Amino acid sequence: MQIGLDALALDTSRYVLNLRDLARARGVDPNKYCKGLGQELMSIPPPDEDVVTLGANAAWHALEALDWPAIELLIFATESAVDQSKAAAVYAHGLLDLPPDCLCLEVKQACSSGAGGLLLALDYVRAKPTAKALVIAADIARYGLRTPGEPTQGAGAAALVVSAQPRLVALDSRAGFHSECVMDFWRPNYRDEALVDGKYSLKVYLKAVQSAWQRYAARTGRGFEDHARFCYHLPFTRMAEKAHQQLLRETGHEGLSAAEVQRQIGGGLHYNPVIGNSYTASLFVALASLLEHEQAVSGERVGLFSYGSGCMAAFFSGVVQPGYQRYVQAQRHAALLESRQELTVSAYEAFYAAHLPVDGRTYHCPRHETGLFRLAGIEQHQRHYD
Ligand code: CAA
Repeated sequence: MQIGLDALALDTSRYVLNLRDLARARGVDPNKYCKGLGQELMSIPPPDEDVVTLGANAAWHALEALDWPAIELLIFATESAVDQSKAAAVYAHGLLDLPPDCLCLEVKQACSSGAGGLLLALDYVRAKPTAKALVIAADIARYGLRTPGEPTQGAGAAALVVSAQPRLVALDSRAGFHSECVMDFWRPNYRDEALVDGKYSLKVYLKAVQSAWQRYAARTGRGFEDHARFCYHLPFTRMAEKAHQQLLRETGHEGLSAAEVQRQIGGGLHYNPVIGNSYTASLFVALASLLEHEQAVSGERVGLFSYGSGCMAAFFSGVVQPGYQRYVQAQRHAALLESRQELTVSAYEAFYAAHLPVDGRTYHCPRHETGLFRLAGIEQHQRHYD
């Protein structure tokens, strides 16, 4: 029985900051951000956008593509939670007007809970092959202004429908994991911005590539050559090169030509340079990029690596299905990315500084461009969405 992705839809904010403008404002050579990190633009959410609106918007387009299948399991993966108790999955369930007979949960482990949620959904559907599951991964990457992390912000969501008739990618839930309690990146409950030991986070990411791969290879019996393409979690686009070089060293393939490396990882790298880090969604943004830019990958096995700081990482894989080209949402995604409005650095800083009141008074969010849903405001500590 094949289980996997039947639909994959993305969303991001309608506003974007050009990293060359940010570099000039910060007195940094723009090549550091554009060439060194591989980033051109980053999505910036307005104050009436949050992970619920981004995630529900992506999910709307995934479900609409399948003519609104019954969803039994809704997993919402995020590290930008809007509530300590109520799951973003329940908010999204309401906005999408899904039937009440649905198991709704929010899951967290930094950037890797999207992959973790997907792996759980695969096994749920394997146990109940008539069921369909919806996994939403949505995040707003936020670091302090003028910190080294600032150019690696971004915002985005991916919605994945898992079924036993996967039209896009059949996935194998036998993953290799690497979990280890480290302090490379974290966000205490009282902070809006992540804290990060940047250089250390790169080291742990690369160690996790090696370790998760070893367990995946032992568990599945697959070798490097069994995989034609690779998608990685992308905190910034050049991370894919570093990760893939680590895997090449680990598997004794250091000698591969630049063209061959590009063929293996290039397809996944079209969207991240213009969206930025979307944490839990990032790996699926890379997968959508691969499926939407490569026209002839059916039958190919794609290696998927997810890294969540703190840390937990997973390496797993799937096989692209024949006819997948008919079901990707390339045109909608291209139109969405094209239509975003560019912000000045001061407009970006104003969005960044906007905060919802925490004293329970009624507050109406100023109206900005969003997708189908927006955060209307707060009343008696309750969020209200349009
Ligand atoms: N022209 C071209 N390239 C330049 C340049 C210039 N003028 N100046 C610098 N560069 C290059 C550097 O050589 C470097 O490239 P290499 O790594 O290939 O050597 C690159 O630009 C970045 O330069 P620095 O290493 O000097 O940058 P930095 O120390 O200021 O910050 C960072 C880099 C640590 C990634 C920082 O952006 C950061 O802390 N980001 C947030 C944390 C992060 O993304 N970690 C990734 C792993 S953790 C994870 O994946 C989970 C997650 O999502 C957060």
